[in-house]
Amino acid sequence: MRIAIGLGCDRGTPLATLAQAVDEAIAQAGLADAEVVAAASITLKADEPGLCGLARSRGWPLRFYPAELLMEVAVPNPSETVRRYTGTPSVSEAAALLAAQAEDATALIVEKHRVKGADGRNATVSIARANPHNCLFSAAERQTAQRLLAARRDMRHFQPGCRVDEASLERLQTALMQAPSVGLMQPWRVLRITDPALRERLAGIVNREREETARAMGEREAAFRALKVEGVREAAELWAVVLAPDDGTLFGRRTMPDEMAWCSVGAAVQNLWLAARAENLGLGWVSLFEPQALADALGLPPGAMPLGLLCIGPVAAFYPGPMLTLAGWRSPREAGALFGENRWAFAAPEHTG
Ligand SMILES: Cc1cc2nc3c(=O)[nH]c(=O)nc-3n(C[C@H](O)[C@H](O)[C@H](O)COP(=O)(O)O)c2cc1C
Repeated sequence: MRIAIGLGCDRGTPLATLAQAVDEAIAQAGLADAEVVAAASITLKADEPGLCGLARSRGWPLRFYPAELLMEVAVPNPSETVRRYTGTPSVSEAAALLAAQAEDATALIVEKHRVKGADGRNATVSIARANPHNCLFSAAERQTAQRLLAARRDMRHFQPGCRVDEASLERLQTALMQAPSVGLMQPWRVLRITDPALRERLAGIVNREREETARAMGEREAAFRALKVEGVREAAELWAVVLAPDDGTLFGRRTMPDEMAWCSVGAAVQNLWLAARAENLGLGWVSLFEPQALADALGLPPGAMPLGLLCIGPVAAFYPGPMLTLAGWRSPREAGALFGENRWAFAAPEHTG
């Protein structure tokens, strides 16, 4: 579940009292810290060190709402005393509902949980179920997203004779449609290869380029030949990603028209890569082909350019790291070699094949 926390407190309430109130309320509802998407209170308390410290220490975005907004929210437990001090009859319940973008007070899971600290200061906590349209992510969701990013792999080994079910295919298509693109150009087109003879022809084109690449590798030729570099024949699905003939989009690409269109295709494939991984499907981007040979095979019009053959499908197991690293071909660079500040101070690239 995704929840929002509403907080009210006396002036100077220590962080420990607020933390106790929050922990008790979360536990009472059988929820977990990692499900919180936001915490909220009244603008009057925007400088309250305990509140700010608590949100910071838990990694929660903290929202403050003015009394005029809070007082508009219908709550189950309005208080005349609270109204006298703050100008609104509810702080914690109303703030929780606003931060949750809840439709009404039925979203409240914990109405008011009050803790009086050893120093006599009060903290009140309300918890509301976040509206599905609330676009904030909880720590639990963040962890899942990070796991997805870390687990994404370029796959070359697929389970032959498998199919991808229609629901997964639809979600993959949606992921592509949601991809960013320069000027919303969407310069990519996808051809799903369903003709076995065409797939065989494409496999032949890839194999020819694999041979050419191997021959160009020099002393690394044998090592390259030992690598599996595509799964065109075995993957359940084969999709050709094509750069469409230019539609003349200017926004964001006046100075780099080709590069920005290519980047947009790459961004779309990355969306697909992550979506496929979330479906527990492997995806391998194959770029080993002579573009004209592929263009001919796919009947592409002038100006269109094939940029990838995407092998998609069930795999026996995902590689635990980049296959090129596991195979001893190449290791990823350390963060220090990739991130700099202000001016270029990176080492010259080494030629690795
Ligand atoms: C534009 C592009 C083209 C690629 N072409 C191939 C390819 O033809 N064959 C292949 O085995 N891997 C290809 N890859 C996959 C990379 O080798 C892989 O992403 C990299 O080794 C890191 O591994 P990982 O994706 O599992 O983290 C391609 C990747 C990209 C982004």
